[in-house]
Amino acid sequence: MFDTRRLGVMTSGGDCTGLNACIRAIVHRAVETYGWEVIGIREGTRGLLERPLEYVELKLGKENDDLLREGGTVLGALNKGDPFNYPMPDGSVQDRSADILEGYRQLGLDGMIVIGGDGSFAIMEKLAGMGDFRYVGVPKTIDNDVGSTEYSIGFVTAVNVAVEALDRLAPTAASHDRVMVLEVMGRDAGHIALHAGIAGGADVILIPEIPWKLGNIARKMTQIRKYGRNHALVIVAEGVKTEEGAHEMQERGGGGVRYGGIGHYLERRISETTGSETRVTVLGHVQRGGTPSMRDRVIGSAFGVHAVDLVAERRFGRMVAWHQRQVVDVPIAEAIAQYNCVSPDDTLVRTARALGISLGDS
Ligand code: F6P
Repeated sequence: MFDTRRLGVMTSGGDCTGLNACIRAIVHRAVETYGWEVIGIREGTRGLLERPLEYVELKLGKENDDLLREGGTVLGALNKGDPFNYPMPDGSVQDRSADILEGYRQLGLDGMIVIGGDGSFAIMEKLAGMGDFRYVGVPKTIDNDVGSTEYSIGFVTAVNVAVEALDRLAPTAASHDRVMVLEVMGRDAGHIALHAGIAGGADVILIPEIPWKLGNIARKMTQIRKYGRNHALVIVAEGVKTEEGAHEMQERGGGGVRYGGIGHYLERRISETTGSETRVTVLGHVQRGGTPSMRDRVIGSAFGVHAVDLVAERRFGRMVAWHQRQVVDVPIAEAIAQYNCVSPDDTLVRTARALGISLGDS
């Protein structure tokens, strides 16, 4: 009979709130219920690549209890450094996957819980396919773009931050008769913009899944003025393309590029086309930090407990998921096979249209 004694935990990819709540729940369930040792790997897969290995034993106690309220991740996170294409200090790229497996073996782990997004799970699936690497996945990402789950850890807090930003922009927009453009994160999915736009009373919501035209936004502005209002709120997801069909990109510190700049592009184009005084706010990483919302604490806790139970049952290769107010589990391969973006007939797309919010396509 398989006997779990040492469980590994890592947070992989970009951070978000609710990760610590999940770690706390994992430690609680694994130590209290099953009597296991829990080993936290430092900074995603990096802790398994370093020699000596970088890890910490996670124990019950006040430090663990306090994690519930803390943003970020106590283990650190890494969103670059794919071990199959690992950037070396001399500028070369190496396959270091075997070092990860060796690190996993050296630690004597009987299983691992990986709290990550679709990119991390794709890497873990490859590692698991190479042999002795058993893991269970917990979905986290403010983008909410992991398949097969209604919620990922971190999403709701990010939306709350964006709603608060709109609440703060509304009065200053009204005071100065301005159009305020708010650029939010989300990669290629418009979930943050769509949810926050509805909850925060945006007049225009632009998401990557729905192509838009400036003429439609200008028409919406004219309509607003007709009703006697001289200000407006526009929320745009970072992955939205320009009218010419290009992505606005930014250099990513440490190499590569990331989305960013569509807000400034819109500010310029809306001002040129409508003559309205326009300002842009780029919300950025504010969406990833702060105190976790109730939803992210609850989901983080429920996911953590269920993930430990999956390890106890040796049901590896599964991802915990939120489905109709229940924690369930699904094959990881299935979850990452489909990118979870906003469907054009999503309930919230219909809600936005019914509220007279312009999605830029009509
Ligand atoms: O995937 C989470 C996310 O915050 C995206 O919304 C955003 O595009 C990206 O990460 C930002 O990455 P970085 O933290 O490397 O700037």
